[in-house]
Amino acid sequence: NKQLESGSKLSGKHILVTAGGTREPIDSVRFIGNRSSGKMGFAIAKAAYNQGAYVTLISGPTKLPAIPGVKTIFIQTVDDLQNAINENIKQADALVMAAAVSDYRVATVADHKLKKSEFDGTMQLQLVENPDVLANLEHPDNLKFVVGFAAESENLLANGQTKLKKKHVDMIVANDISKSDTGFDSDDNAVTLIRPELKPEVIKKQSKKLIAQRIIDIISDQL
Ligand code: CTP
Ligand code: CA
Repeated sequence: NKQLESGSKLSGKHILVTAGGTREPIDSVRFIGNRSSGKMGFAIAKAAYNQGAYVTLISGPTKLPAIPGVKTIFIQTVDDLQNAINENIKQADALVMAAAVSDYRVATVADHKLKKSEFDGTMQLQLVENPDVLANLEHPDNLKFVVGFAAESENLLANGQTKLKKKHVDMIVANDISKSDTGFDSDDNAVTLIRPELKPEVIKKQSKKLIAQRIIDIISDQL
């Protein structure tokens, strides 16, 4: 019910959210991407907006409709994502990094459509590691709470704890991507919320909408 979903816990606050998957070009028509649908990040942006926040959403390509009232910046590559974050982080009270960021990019992007005739039956792409946007983030004074995600197919808790420290974040939303009825492209998710000094909070299969509302509740309590 709309009334229960909307409130003013975040009025006057600016929440920056990243969503969707980045794309790294191979040539003028091809790219390396991932299965992120953007649904989790969009749900978080919507939940923040419904609590009265000013929301900036930085999104990779998705099939999702725009969220009325939410300023959305569309990006493709990790470089674009970094630039969009740099431009908005100094106004943000909180950042939620739900985007599935490409770990690697193609070393040399071809400026034309690659032809099969350029290769002899096999083709090798050289990839170079992208910077870790979240781990290298400068935390300006205005930024009070940072949420990272962790997509894991095994050792969810241990890997989530490691990312909590390595990424210098206040919370990791650890996502078990080994199950097909939750996670990628699903309207549901199952996550564990990991925070320093607190017992991990396990959220069993649940709509992304309700999980987003829980994440936004935690953020609003900290701002
Ligand atoms: N992330 C990022 N920049 C990258 C890679 C990831 O900012 N180059 C962010 C993601 O948006 C997410 C968090 O870091 O919030 C964890 O991403 P994940 O892919 O789970 O972890 P990685 O550090 O990339 O490690 P790995 O993929 O090897 O598990
Ligand atoms: Ca990764």
